[in-house]
Amino acid sequence: MWSSSIFSRLAVIGAISTTLASPSPVSLGWYFVQNGTSGIVALEAIVLTETLMLIFDRPLGDPLKINGHDAWGGLWNLETNQVTALDMKSNSFCGSGGFLSNGTMVSTGGDNVELPPNQTIPTEGDGRMAIRMWEPCDDPTGLSCSLLENNETLHLAKRRWYSTSTRIFDGSLMVIGGSNNQSSFWNTPDLAENSIEFWPSKDGGVPRPSEFLERTIPVNLFPRVFALPDGKVFVVANNQSMIYDIETNTETPLPDLPNGVRVTNPFDGSATLLPLSPPDFVPEVLVCGGTNTSDQLDLDFHTFSSQHPATEQCSRIKLTPEGIEQGWEVELMPEGHIMNELILMPDGKVMIINGGQSGYAAYGTVMDVVSNSNADHPNFKPLLYSPDAPIGSRFTREGLPATDIPRLYHSSVTLTPSGNIFIGGSNPHGGEVLDGEFPSEYRIEYLNPPYMTVSRPALTNFPERVNFNQRFSADVDIPGNLDISSVQVALMDLGFSTHSFHASSRLVFAEAKLSRDKKSIEVLAPPNNRVYPPGPAWMFLTVDGVSSTGKKILVGSGEAPPVADQGVPL
Ligand SMILES: *[C@@H]1O[C@H](CO)[C@@H](O)[C@H](O)[C@H]1NC(C)=O
Ligand SMILES: *[C@@H]1O[C@H](CO)[C@@H](O)[C@H](O)[C@H]1NC(C)=O
Ligand SMILES: *[C@@H]1O[C@H](CO)[C@@H](O)[C@H](O)[C@H]1NC(C)=O
Ligand SMILES: *[C@@H]1O[C@H](CO)[C@@H](O)[C@H](O)[C@H]1NC(C)=O
Ligand SMILES: *[C@@H]1O[C@H](CO)[C@@H](O)[C@H](O)[C@H]1NC(C)=O
Ligand SMILES: *[C@@H]1O[C@H](CO)[C@@H](O)[C@H](O)[C@H]1NC(C)=O
Ligand SMILES: *[C@@H]1O[C@H](CO)[C@@H](O)[C@H](O)[C@H]1NC(C)=O
Repeated sequence: MWSSSIFSRLAVIGAISTTLASPSPVSLGWYFVQNGTSGIVALEAIVLTETLMLIFDRPLGDPLKINGHDAWGGLWNLETNQVTALDMKSNSFCGSGGFLSNGTMVSTGGDNVELPPNQTIPTEGDGRMAIRMWEPCDDPTGLSCSLLENNETLHLAKRRWYSTSTRIFDGSLMVIGGSNNQSSFWNTPDLAENSIEFWPSKDGGVPRPSEFLERTIPVNLFPRVFALPDGKVFVVANNQSMIYDIETNTETPLPDLPNGVRVTNPFDGSATLLPLSPPDFVPEVLVCGGTNTSDQLDLDFHTFSSQHPATEQCSRIKLTPEGIEQGWEVELMPEGHIMNELILMPDGKVMIINGGQSGYAAYGTVMDVVSNSNADHPNFKPLLYSPDAPIGSRFTREGLPATDIPRLYHSSVTLTPSGNIFIGGSNPHGGEVLDGEFPSEYRIEYLNPPYMTVSRPALTNFPERVNFNQRFSADVDIPGNLDISSVQVALMDLGFSTHSFHASSRLVFAEAKLSRDKKSIEVLAPPNNRVYPPGPAWMFLTVDGVSSTGKKILVGSGEAPPVADQGVPL
């Protein structure tokens, strides 16, 4: 046995690519592979197509060049593992983004004009109110398409640095929170943009003030936000949470996170909406990592230490009246996590990855920075969480490898359409620093699940667009060794990754039935535009724990937002 598995490892090693060329009969298990360099620090990342991702950095001296100056945006090609610089107009640093109901990607907000250490970057504009659009583009290289920016005609109502954007039930983006200017560590009352706006705008473009954001200062940057299956929105910031009803503009506070744990920037833990399953699509939220350090504004954060342990706590709540009554259920990870991200996998498990075991987000502000980093003790080993396992046995490290590349502040991570995990960044510095313990990191790495190196199920002949509650079919090719009694079809938004959060990330399982000849599958699209906010989805088929590659499908009418309610009520 050992010799055949060693042999297959040797046989494949020369060709281990991120999208595997020739499947081996024996899985290589989970493994990291480093491939390519991003040229800019990939601190924001969003998958556009099967072959392309957008990555953004700040205009502060990256090696990648465009038209004679430093670039701060790039197209990452998932097939070639190469980057192409984008000539951007505005500073995208610490913005957010997501897809609209018509498939257009929108990047929102960013930073003030930054003065580089030398003057090779003269061109960027203030990005705090920016809207940058990437229209659906069929060119697999993306080279014939471009990022559309026009600060006179396309912009937010408010300046937003460190805000979050999430697609909602009408296919627009809800843009929440942030600061109107750079702050040195956490949000402060004079800079906080404690409001919610939408893009395209609602209410005649007038932002809505948020008491929740007022209450959660100073630890409320990059609020963690999820669109719930009834159209309302769940928000967690600092140690507080609420449900926001967009249609009535009302905030309903929920219980605080237990044990003083705080989870938004600069105390970044992460959060995810757990997979939604038919027939009831009951929403549950998982929040992991962060710190229990106090948030009292009069504390001098220069007394904070990079060695303060991060919390081991995950908190989970079911968002039904009974679940809210029961409150948060606490589970402990094997170690503390700060600046971790939670990645939904096609089989419904959650990968906890990136970040460190102590300290805080940001750089240069704690009393004992480690090569400028406010955090230390990188978490080199990912951790897998099984939401359906009994409490006490949900975390596992079995078979999971370790990397040797720290991914601390300003890193990103996302599931890709081929089903592996892209990892970029970090850079706990104010510009490029190549020496010391945590240098500016351009190496891209993938974490490959075991299914990347075996024969996988495949989906073909599927519709490009489906209506809500529509039955549709796709052809399937299922390797004969897989047990077809376990079949899952997931529709996923892969989210927009930055600052330890994955905005709009979502997994909705669909009812699915294999045909008698096992050559096609009938799938029932999500019931309505509240269960899956209308827009692009990646469809993955998982048989016997082995996932296919994802196929892109537009869910809903495909019209520009705001779209009317579609499908059937729950
Ligand atoms: C890196 O990616 C390229 C392009 O896909 C591929 O040809 C090469 O084999 C990969 N290298 C490794 C080490 O995976
Ligand atoms: C100025 O920028 C260029 C290009 O990024 C870089 O090679 C050079 O080292 C920089 N000089 C200084 C003084 O930072
Ligand atoms: C748009 O950007 C240009 C160049 O940075 C700047 O001069 C102009 O004031 C900006 N206009 C608005 C409305 O922000
Ligand atoms: C924002 O901060 C910068 C310095 O960090 C300052 O120059 C600027 O005037 C501030 N205000 C606005 C509205 O940009
Ligand atoms: C949440 O934080 C606030 C402000 O620091 C504090 O007053 C409150 O006690 C905390 N809640 C819990 C449950 O620890
Ligand atoms: C805060 O978290 C640390 C790390 O988990 C733990 O050791 C400590 O007991 C916690 N303190 C309080 C007051 O809960
Ligand atoms: C999608 O909608 C937005 C907002 O109306 C619009 O700017 C964009 O051009 C639309 N994209 C397509 C492909 O129609």
